[in-house]
Amino acid sequence: MAERKALVKAAQAACTLGFVGYVLYKVFTRPSSARPGINAPFQDSNAVATFESKFENTDREIFAKREGILGALPLSEGHVVADLGAGTGAFLPGLAARVGPKGRVIALDNAAAFLPVLREKVSKMVTPTSAPIEVGVSSHTSTGLPDASVDLIFSADVYHHLEHYAEMLASIKKSLKPGGAFIVVDFEKIPAEAKRCSGHGHSHGAVSHGHGHGHGHGHGHNPGHGHAHGQPQPHHNHHHGKQGGVSTEWVMGHVRANKQQVKKEIEEAGFTVTERTEVAGLKDYYLLVCRPN
Ligand SMILES: C[S@@+](CC[C@H](N)C(=O)[O-])C[C@H]1O[C@@H](n2cnc3c(N)ncnc32)[C@H](O)[C@@H]1O
Repeated sequence: MAERKALVKAAQAACTLGFVGYVLYKVFTRPSSARPGINAPFQDSNAVATFESKFENTDREIFAKREGILGALPLSEGHVVADLGAGTGAFLPGLAARVGPKGRVIALDNAAAFLPVLREKVSKMVTPTSAPIEVGVSSHTSTGLPDASVDLIFSADVYHHLEHYAEMLASIKKSLKPGGAFIVVDFEKIPAEAKRCSGHGHSHGAVSHGHGHGHGHGHGHNPGHGHAHGQPQPHHNHHHGKQGGVSTEWVMGHVRANKQQVKKEIEEAGFTVTERTEVAGLKDYYLLVCRPN
């Protein structure tokens, strides 16, 4: 009898161990949803100073076209808007102007080291006709916002930096007020082969421009990207449109997923995704409006 009990206990212990082992295996072997190390350059108190000239530079397509991008968003006066992955704050003045003094802007980033510098910077951005801007910290898996608290979560050049996109998408969904939207502005990832297959010619390598200056966004950890990667970077997209462009080698290596994959991931997280194509001059990037189902 005692022997049987001992056997049952041993079997139970083995099952528990097996289960714990399985959970640990799943957690530690879970594929990252961003290129490993992609966020390392931001974990530095000097990151705002380092990236300011790269992010807030008219050679960067989404900075040059920021008014058009912001104009395409479902934003009104009085709205509460979060800028997820605000970085150096390139989009904050424009967001604050659009929602006006009755609105609120929350700049979120998970690179806590530079947030005091960002806080100092945003204190100088507010004008009598713009919204107050707060700075908050998010994590890899959560916006850190209260449930149903914001009308819009804007993200520019951030989706491919999300290390746990599924968890973050669930958190984004919870943070949005009913009727709210999540905005993704991210890089087109179009390989040269796709271009050749489409039969439109001009498969001469990277034609997109703007991030050369270091797309720089340079993230610092990849000194070879941008102009330095040995490819001439023509300053024109010969096709003047996303369909015509192919992505730079740097983008191909830096960005995890292409637009179709990103759309699929967001749809699987329970959003309806609509692409907005009317922003004049957007070639290297796309803009998605994602509404919870
Ligand atoms: C390429 S920068 C873009 C900055 C800014 N949105 C812009 O376009 O100028 C990416 C930013 O996303 C931030 N980031 C990465 N993962 C994040 C997360 N889970 N939550 C918030 N920010 C995140 C990084 O710290 C970095 O500031």
